[in-house]
Parts: sequence; C-alpha cells; structure tokens
Amino acid sequence: MSSDFYRELILDYYRNPRNFGKLDPHDIDAKDLNPLCGDEVEMQIRVSPDKDKIEEIRFIGKGCAISQASASMLTEMAKGKPLEWVKGLSRDDILKMLGTSDLGPARIKCAMLSVKVLKTGVYTYLGAQYSEPTE
Ligand code: FES
Repeated sequence: MSSDFYRELILDYYRNPRNFGKLDPHDIDAKDLNPLCGDEVEMQIRVSPDKDKIEEIRFIGKGCAISQASASMLTEMAKGKPLEWVKGLSRDDILKMLGTSDLGPARIKCAMLSVKVLKTGVYTYLGAQYSEPTE
C-alpha cells in the first residue's frame, strides 16, 4: 500500500484515538515522556484474573501524531495478548504497525515512546508478581 495511505492512517488514529481514556480499575499504570519534546504517554492496563493476559488497556497522552497514533495502535494490538508477548516487542514490530520503514532517529523516538511505557508497566507488574510470597 502507498505511504500516503499509512500517513492517512496515522493521522486518523491521531485525530480519533482508539482506547483513549483512563481505565478503572486497573492493575498497571505507567507513564513516560520523550525528553526531547516533553510529549507524554500514560497507559493503564487491567490484567486477566489468571494474571496472564492484557484484558483491557487504555492510554492518555499529548504529543505529536506519531507518538499518539503509535500509542493508540499499540493498545489495539496488545489487547488480549499474554503479558509475555510484550517482552518480544521490537522496533521493527512498531514500524510495521505504523506501516513505514523510513522514520528518522527523532521520529523513531516518537514511535517508541508508547512501547517504552508498555514495557515499563508490564515489567514492573511481572517483577512484583515474581517477588510475591508463594504461600
Ligand atoms: Fe514529541 Fe514526537 S515530537 S514524541
């Protein structure tokens, strides 16, 4: 498909973000910003009762089209996935999700902000599970 199509898709997610808003109750809350511009993404996640999957996920944020569209697309992609799936998320996965392969270094930071937030949140949650007493 043409790069115009993907540009339109990114703008559509930016203007009409899917899964935008707070999630209550939630088990995971993570937030980060891009230090270059101050743009922010915060994600809230409800984990399934077996503590294994992303049952529900929402985000809020402010920033450029790529950072916000990436966060919105990522919430759609992550919903219903095992928590372990988050560990394998790569830069290439995100570029594929956005439908582009030609982002410069500054734009890559925009695209990866939401991944950083998602990984931070899930790793923190998993870390707390592993350190819980097992009795
Ligand atoms: Fe700030 Fe894109 S310009 S995250």
